[in-house]
Amino acid sequence: METSVQRLDQDYWNGKYKASATGWDLGMVSPILKSYFDSIDNKQLKILIPGCGNAHEADYLLKNGFTNVTIIDIAPTLVDKLKIKHGQNPDINIIQGDFFEHSGHYDLIIEQTFFCALPTNMRQKYVLKMHELLVDKGLLVGLLFDRIFDSGPPFGGSKKEYESIFRGAFTLNHFSKCKASVSPRSGSELFIELEKKRDVVLAIYQTSAFSDLKHAKTIKQCIISLDGVINVSLSSDLMKILVVCEERFPLNMLQNIVDNKLKFKIEEI
Ligand SMILES: C[S@@+](CC[C@H](N)C(=O)[O-])C[C@H]1O[C@@H](n2cnc3c(N)ncnc32)[C@H](O)[C@@H]1O
Repeated sequence: METSVQRLDQDYWNGKYKASATGWDLGMVSPILKSYFDSIDNKQLKILIPGCGNAHEADYLLKNGFTNVTIIDIAPTLVDKLKIKHGQNPDINIIQGDFFEHSGHYDLIIEQTFFCALPTNMRQKYVLKMHELLVDKGLLVGLLFDRIFDSGPPFGGSKKEYESIFRGAFTLNHFSKCKASVSPRSGSELFIELEKKRDVVLAIYQTSAFSDLKHAKTIKQCIISLDGVINVSLSSDLMKILVVCEERFPLNMLQNIVDNKLKFKIEEI
């Protein structure tokens, strides 16, 4: 869990690149992703790699004929170097910016130590953003840590916890222990292939009134029992609720519950 209110913003990550403090960097494409890429026939797939770092996955894709790769990272020092490295290569689009501000539509999004770099209270937002950026039946593929760290980043978690956030918005095609992790991460990674579900809508509601976990769980149960709601998950700071539903969930219905039963205020963000 986060130990302090350290801001994991552009300055933080840029500072890491300036100081060459990039202990997470494998120096090569992650082996399981290499095998995954090798299994893809369609080299025109539109692929996004968020929080790309030194982008070894992109290097591998380009070397192997993929023609539509977008990489994005918040750290300008890093991105300047990536732009020089790739020059005018038309097969790669290099963006400096915040993933959560990015717009587009992708067939495949690659997860490689980006999720774990985000504060845990961003996980609901991550799920919503991934859902938004993927085409119908698009895939989110990659690795998640299956362990807890004393402090972070990286921030870890468990299969059970992750599934509770992704459920409803994605079909969990693969969510299992990775058998091809690099040795320092051996046994502590999950390989995921999550397929975007269509005909579902995601919304995040913000609240300042979840006083404690017991209260928050009551509210969650109350929302999930409503017709059309498929999944509800609470952010780690209990300030945000991700609601996955069959159609746009009417906020006034939630507000009615709030007013009549639970006595707290929420708003969609
Ligand atoms: C732990 S590093 C992983 C880098 C790379 N994926 C790898 O495995 O080597 C996390 C990366 O996410 C980037 N990052 C963090 N927050 C971001 C955000 N909101 N939008 C885009 N990139 C972000 C950081 O600059 C950093 O490069």
